[in-house]
Amino acid sequence: MSLKNIIQVGATGTLGPSVLQALIASNKFNVTVGTRDASGTFPAGVKVVQIDYSSQESLVKAFSGQDAVIVTIGNHNPALLEEIQMAIVDAAVTAGVKHLIPSNFGGDLEAHRTDVLDFKIRVEEKLAKLASEGKISYTAIGTGIFFDWALMIGFLGVDLTTKKASLLNDGNFKLNVTKLSTVAQVIIKILSSPETVKNRRALVHDFYISQRELLKVAEEETGAIFEVSSMTTEELLATSLKAMGAGDPMAIYGLIKAAAWGADSPTAWGVDDDSKVLEVVPKDLREEVVVVLTQMKLR
Ligand SMILES: NC(=O)c1ccc[n+]([C@@H]2O[C@H](COP(=O)([O-])OP(=O)(O)OC[C@H]3O[C@@H](n4cnc5c(N)ncnc54)[C@H](OP(=O)(O)O)[C@@H]3O)[C@@H](O)[C@H]2O)c1
Repeated sequence: MSLKNIIQVGATGTLGPSVLQALIASNKFNVTVGTRDASGTFPAGVKVVQIDYSSQESLVKAFSGQDAVIVTIGNHNPALLEEIQMAIVDAAVTAGVKHLIPSNFGGDLEAHRTDVLDFKIRVEEKLAKLASEGKISYTAIGTGIFFDWALMIGFLGVDLTTKKASLLNDGNFKLNVTKLSTVAQVIIKILSSPETVKNRRALVHDFYISQRELLKVAEEETGAIFEVSSMTTEELLATSLKAMGAGDPMAIYGLIKAAAWGADSPTAWGVDDDSKVLEVVPKDLREEVVVVLTQMKLR
């Protein structure tokens, strides 16, 4: 299966730009971006199409002639993200798209079913059914937590700006994390040889680390002693559920963290995964922490 014409939907935001940059830099594809507002700024040489995600006609028109659809759409509202993705999958089949990468980018989701992430499993189940009927093929990608994004905003529990660490449980629980640029390279590899991980979820990672391992490197590389506090994942879950109930949409991050560091974590599958077959380049944790510190102008 040859995938040449690629449309990426949701190319702005957290993950999208890294993927778009890699698609362009690879020089292998005819790249189109799908967006809600085509007046936005996109890199030169990229074709931009405006999409009304509530319209099958608009989606099918955008996907016509495309070999693959990459979905990097994100939204704090899981129900909305599910609805949009289901519509995208239907339109991709109608338009005759060969391969689709859904907006999963989570982990081994069945391991810890949570209301907030279950919709990603339902999108994959729909794709798996359509793939079994020969209507489309797909690859979902489980990445664990986005390493550089999470380290920059303190989501991994180690805040490089305030020099504070808020550990979950004893801070020794290891989980999988992946850089945004690695996710992008994995997508390029999948588009270049889709048979490698066809019709299933591929799990990849850069590091399998604990908060304490990260804290040690952060302290050594900043020369600071971080102020450390801790809470249990049960406490975080309870606080986040309460905030969610009070209408705080950002409480979803607390729910995701509680699941990630909790029992049966969906983002802690270890080192035995698809990283090797998808040619993820091994990286040094210390070097990558320094990269983030430099990007944050903290070094
Ligand atoms: N593993 C992790 O640590 C991690 C962290 C963050 C996110 N994620 C996952 O990665 C994926 C991408 O998330 P992200 O944070 O990169 O997304 P994001 O920055 O929130 O949004 C990406 C793009 O999605 C499009 N979008 C947003 N709302 C939309 C809507 N209602 N309808 C249509 N398009 C909409 C927008 O593009 P346009 O404005 O161009 O239309 C937006 O720039 C999601 O599946 C998310 O759950 C994983």
